[in-house]
Amino acid sequence: MEMVTVSPTYRVMQRIGYALSGIYSSRLNPLYYLGAITVFLLIIDVISGIYLFFFYDVDPKGAHASVEAISSSFLGSLMRSIHRYSSDGLILFAVLHMLQMIFTDRFRMFRWIAWVSGVGTLLLFLAIGISGYLLVWDERAQLTGLLTAKFFSVIPIFGHALMSAFLGTDIKNLGGLFRILLFGHIAVTILLVFTLWVHVMRISRPRLFPPKELMILLTVYVVAVSILFPAKSDPPADLGKVPFSMSLDWFYLTGYPLFKVFPLSVNWILFLGFFGILTAFPWLIKGRRNPPAHVLEDKCEGCRQCFLDCPYEAIYMKRISEKEEKAEVIESKCAGCGICVASCNYGANEIPTVPIQNILEDLRSKKPDLAVFRCSFAAQVEERNGVRVYTFPCAGAVNAVWMRDILKEVKGVMVVSCDGIDCYFREGVEWTEARFTGKRRPRLLKTLERGRIRVVEAPSVANIDKEVEDFLNALKDPSRLPEDVTFVARNKVNPILASVLLFIPFLTFYPLTTDRMDFYPTDKALAVITFKYRSSPVKKAEGTHSKLEHMKAMQNIAIERSPILLTFKVDGKTLLEKRYDPRGLRKDASIYVYEEFLLKPGKHTVELKLVETKNPDVVKTFKVVRELKPATSLAISFAEGKGFFLLGGK
Ligand code: HEM
Ligand code: SF4
Ligand code: SF4
Repeated sequence: MEMVTVSPTYRVMQRIGYALSGIYSSRLNPLYYLGAITVFLLIIDVISGIYLFFFYDVDPKGAHASVEAISSSFLGSLMRSIHRYSSDGLILFAVLHMLQMIFTDRFRMFRWIAWVSGVGTLLLFLAIGISGYLLVWDERAQLTGLLTAKFFSVIPIFGHALMSAFLGTDIKNLGGLFRILLFGHIAVTILLVFTLWVHVMRISRPRLFPPKELMILLTVYVVAVSILFPAKSDPPADLGKVPFSMSLDWFYLTGYPLFKVFPLSVNWILFLGFFGILTAFPWLIKGRRNPPAHVLEDKCEGCRQCFLDCPYEAIYMKRISEKEEKAEVIESKCAGCGICVASCNYGANEIPTVPIQNILEDLRSKKPDLAVFRCSFAAQVEERNGVRVYTFPCAGAVNAVWMRDILKEVKGVMVVSCDGIDCYFREGVEWTEARFTGKRRPRLLKTLERGRIRVVEAPSVANIDKEVEDFLNALKDPSRLPEDVTFVARNKVNPILASVLLFIPFLTFYPLTTDRMDFYPTDKALAVITFKYRSSPVKKAEGTHSKLEHMKAMQNIAIERSPILLTFKVDGKTLLEKRYDPRGLRKDASIYVYEEFLLKPGKHTVELKLVETKNPDVVKTFKVVRELKPATSLAISFAEGKGFFLLGGK
């Protein structure tokens, strides 16, 4: 019977994993805990974030100074750096975890909920990280804010309004935005608990935390990089000028360099296309699925063991009378691993990929020396004289109870599983070892010669010939066999190499978060027009004829305002002639303008003219001559009663 087996990319992952197990042991191999490491870093992130929250000033006027004040003490700087580096780490490990799921073919069919919620969680992580960077209110925050606002400006409810918040005079606008950002930063972090719950809801006993040895190492590393490379801010933001460059955090702002290369529309296509395709992966890349298990109701004694063992919560106990319940498989959730077949003492669970009766007959007729039961993802074992090989979907499908009958026909039994906890079906290897050591039901009978059984952890990339040869030799002299089952696994740790290797990703955090990048050409100057304008009404609401004093104002409410025509000239050459409509469904709200122009450095005459198209006698003009240096900006704004003026005190 054909079943899901190891793909070429899975083989590569197994090779890397198996090599790492030689350093970390399979139990402590960080590659097998990428999701759990992400959760652990998230917890460090939240704890350090709570500390920062108490000292942070949400008012943009004081935000940067408050962050600098936090950084000025050892503890504050440490907590800030831990917050930054644990955030970077969790993105890195989440992405590695996602790639691992892709390469090991663990993203479709019964895993689709984990996949889709994983993509959602990743997006939430990015949103939290970007909002966190804005809260620092340094040049990186301002430029990130401007670029993000530009990205969202294609959505009509935002338009140019968000951009004006990051470059303009109205710090009040920004103050409101900051409160929303801080609230969002915290609220979305809380939302993560929910998305992570959805992420693992179809998984029994998800491994949410790495082993404690790894947790200790990870904590030491985050603290070490925080002390070695304290997180720093860029210079404070200035609402009067555009920063041309910033230090880029490659973990959170990865997509931002694309703003330099492509227009907004292409960036949206790339963003929606990338995350859309990623979300749809489970349906775009079809795969095979093992046939599901089923329960023979009349044999089931209702012991619940299969219900407890299933790694995908695919079995439920159906109540059939007041005292009796029977197991039933939910086919849509069933991964076809066969683990439940090995849970049952009564032979009530069956799966077509584990034809135990045929196998027993085969063994009775062939009488080999060795019966090998291998997982379909584990090492290939060659059939040869005296060796019969049976492939199961998972090593966890080998029932310890069968050994009584099997050992009557053969000299020895070898179970070949994947490497440690890197089981495609999550818990197959763990349950096998627990059952064969008598720690979990159904247990291996104590009266059996348990030394005739070997369980070998060897993924498909391992060469198992020598193991088979050794065991065959050992079986020739039963008196020298051990008393108990032998487990062969990579369980040696090389502490120095193991510690050094895991530190490497942490050493990337500082260079990858401080890499300076220009977002505007530094050999050019930038002219920016940024303002909010409330044009004169063209229509007023009908009078309400109210006699009440406080209702009289209603009579003058504008229900439509005039569009404006803006003309921008540099050295007599028209660079912009554009009409802007008031916002709002009734076209009665303010107009927001944000336009950028790259200019050659040097002396320029800059002219701006605003005309209300429906009230042509309302005209505002502005003319200024300025020497512009490379990599500087000239920002023109507008205020009621003041007219056009230059931002930044020029
Ligand atoms: C963003 C933060 C993420 C965290 C904290 C996280 C955490 C976890 C954890 C703890 C598990 C359970 C592992 C186990 O017990 O076997 C898991 C499973 C899984 N994750 Fe994630 N994950 C994240 C992101 C992602 C992403 C981005 C994807 C893919 C888009 C993804 C796909 C999966 C899948 C498919 C499983 C199920 C594995 C299985 O059934 O064997 N996760 N994740
Ligand atoms: S392990 Fe067997 S007897 Fe026990 S509940 Fe499952 S099917 Fe029934
Ligand atoms: S075959 Fe695996 S996934 Fe399906 S019910 Fe049995 S234990 Fe659960």
